[in-house]
Amino acid sequence: MEYQLECRPLTDTRADCLIVAVPESGEWPTSTQQADELTGGLISQLHKGGDFSGKQGTTQLLPLAQGPWQRLLLVGAGKAGELNTQSYCRLVASAIGRLKETGAHTALAALADIPVLERDEAWRMLIIARVCEETLYQFQQYKSEQLPLPKLTCLQVLASGDSPLLAQALTEGQAIGEGMNLARDMGNTPPNICHPVFLAEQAKALAKTHKVIKTQILDEDQMAKLGMNALLSVSLGSIQPARLIIMEYRGGDEDEAPHVLVGKGITFDTGGISLKAGAGMDEMKYDMCGAASVLGTMHAVASLKPQANIIGVIAAAENMPSDRATRPGDIVTSMSGQTIEVLNTDAEGRMVLSDALTYVERFKPASVVDIATLTGACIVALGDKASAVMGNNDSLVQKLLRCGQQSGDRVWELPLWDEYQRQLDSNFADMQNIGGKGAGSITAGCFLSRFATAYPWAHLDVAGTAWLSGKEKGATGRPVPLLMEYLLTQAG
Ligand code: BES
Ligand code: MN
Ligand code: ZN
Repeated sequence: MEYQLECRPLTDTRADCLIVAVPESGEWPTSTQQADELTGGLISQLHKGGDFSGKQGTTQLLPLAQGPWQRLLLVGAGKAGELNTQSYCRLVASAIGRLKETGAHTALAALADIPVLERDEAWRMLIIARVCEETLYQFQQYKSEQLPLPKLTCLQVLASGDSPLLAQALTEGQAIGEGMNLARDMGNTPPNICHPVFLAEQAKALAKTHKVIKTQILDEDQMAKLGMNALLSVSLGSIQPARLIIMEYRGGDEDEAPHVLVGKGITFDTGGISLKAGAGMDEMKYDMCGAASVLGTMHAVASLKPQANIIGVIAAAENMPSDRATRPGDIVTSMSGQTIEVLNTDAEGRMVLSDALTYVERFKPASVVDIATLTGACIVALGDKASAVMGNNDSLVQKLLRCGQQSGDRVWELPLWDEYQRQLDSNFADMQNIGGKGAGSITAGCFLSRFATAYPWAHLDVAGTAWLSGKEKGATGRPVPLLMEYLLTQAG
């Protein structure tokens, strides 16, 4: 997809489709007023006649017999002054969703001049491009009969002026959207294809197309030499070998401390010997969505090249039961030297992350954010709206909360209080890998905190947000928008 900043007056533009927003009440955006005049009052006629009320999320497509646009697409903007971050994203999604069903190859979106609470024009530009990428996404690699690809190849976005800031916002939105879609591809890919070595190949491919990224892959022997027995205990039962994947982007000063992302990459989570129940187990192919978000973010970083040092690390393994699998009761020594009693082999995410968190100490990070589909309890607490955030550094957690608001990819803090740590006491080792009844997401965070001691650290539990279930089953690409917002603000 190509995105173009369109700064000419509406009368001088042309496209297969013009998209304007119509509020339910209150003042119309300039572009809507102009489109109304240029179409002989068509929009006001529909609005007054009660045929198009402007209710949020509704759309109306109209053929135009003459003029520079073949079609006019109206999208409802709801009550004036009430659009916020979330409802604006939905508005753009419904407009592009309707556009996708038309034969238009080019479209002019006049959607950046609608007021959104606390947001400016550059923000709206970014969202239009990002949400357009998200909405046009299709995953049909494994279908014999392919749906036709969307016809749209160029989206012009009407802007108030020819500012480099606005053009940059479009570029950023596109890169973030493409990063999300890469993450979605990885998540949706079936687990017989998407195994740890496959993820490593993806990282290598990224380094091949983007020279600014350098990739290093550690195999099981190399990890064993480093003492990463917590990570390796997870892949013991699987024929698929584990991998530690390191992607380095150096866009800042040589001596500038890097921001590090660590993704949980369980390419399939059966639970191991603590086998999961059968219903819906296919969705445990999504247990690598944290890893996928790191890949997607590194992809976006590679195209935007911010002035910062950014390192993405993926702890990739498959969690399978077998005669060689880790047993409940086994004790392993992690890379940090701390011993762990594995009371439940289904609490495997924290096992692979613990060693990855120790590994990244070598980078002397400015911050470390781990991303993991870590606990079912997180879905109970927050559903699919917010990811959970916890950490050892309040300023980092606050930053992530703000970036969640700004990007619409929201997070909510859970308390990582010392009082919860006791739930991890073991009779036989330094700790056990489960915290018993209550506060399951927090005790998982507590476990990780014991390994993230050398730097400011935050943990994102994306169990509820990384994919959708049911009829709309599929990876969402979250939290790539949040991570990009964070990294781009860190780069300044
Ligand atoms: N990957 C799961 C968490 C999960 C479950 C995410 C369902 C999304 C949907 C994780 O490895 C897991 O199995 N966690 C256990 C932890 C428990 C054994 C302490 C859980 O949440 O049940
Ligand atoms: Mn598990
Ligand atoms: Zn898991």
